Amino acid sequence: MSALAHLCEEIAACRDCELAKYRTNVVPGEGAEDADLLFIGEAPGWHEDQQGRPFVGPAGQFLDELLASIDLRREEAYIANVIKCRPPQNREPLPAEIETCRKWLDRQIEIIRPRMIVTLGRYSLARYFPSESISRIHGRPRRLQGVICYPMYHPAAALHQGSLRPIIQTDMLRIPQILAQGTELPPEPVESQQLSLF
Ligand code: URA
Repeated sequence: MSALAHLCEEIAACRDCELAKYRTNVVPGEGAEDADLLFIGEAPGWHEDQQGRPFVGPAGQFLDELLASIDLRREEAYIANVIKCRPPQNREPLPAEIETCRKWLDRQIEIIRPRMIVTLGRYSLARYFPSESISRIHGRPRRLQGVICYPMYHPAAALHQGSLRPIIQTDMLRIPQILAQGTELPPEPVESQQLSLF
């Protein structure tokens, strides 16, 4: 069994916070162990909880469209969430739940070692860009410990606010070029040098 498959089994058995009581399935994440691109969403919703797979509901359909627009199949990237279990009634994850779950994403990143991390929405944004606002920094890559971190709006945002759809589509279309030019990105700004990938 691969290191990542083994880790996903560990995640699936986790009962480290209260969310274990409410979930139907844990949603560890899925994709290629050697993916260049790691997409990090927020938390599983109803559909994901039912299936144990990330982004399989309406937001996931839009994510699939976005991936297709850059000729990427889901299996070629890795798709995960900050929180691995659905909060009841899709409420916002609590800071303590995010902290307890943090170790799993840290270990996923250590194994996958992606070249680029795409944050989808504000919880994954906060991991790498604390105190930044998505409307200001979406679509602007930065390098953090050699990895490109790229903030994007969450695909679900376009379902609630149609005007964000073309913005999200444009940000996605820039990914192949950013990956290709990775090493030429501007150096890390001072504030992100305090941050760690894991
Ligand atoms: N929204 C997320 O952030 N993650 C999912 O897996 C599904 C919807």
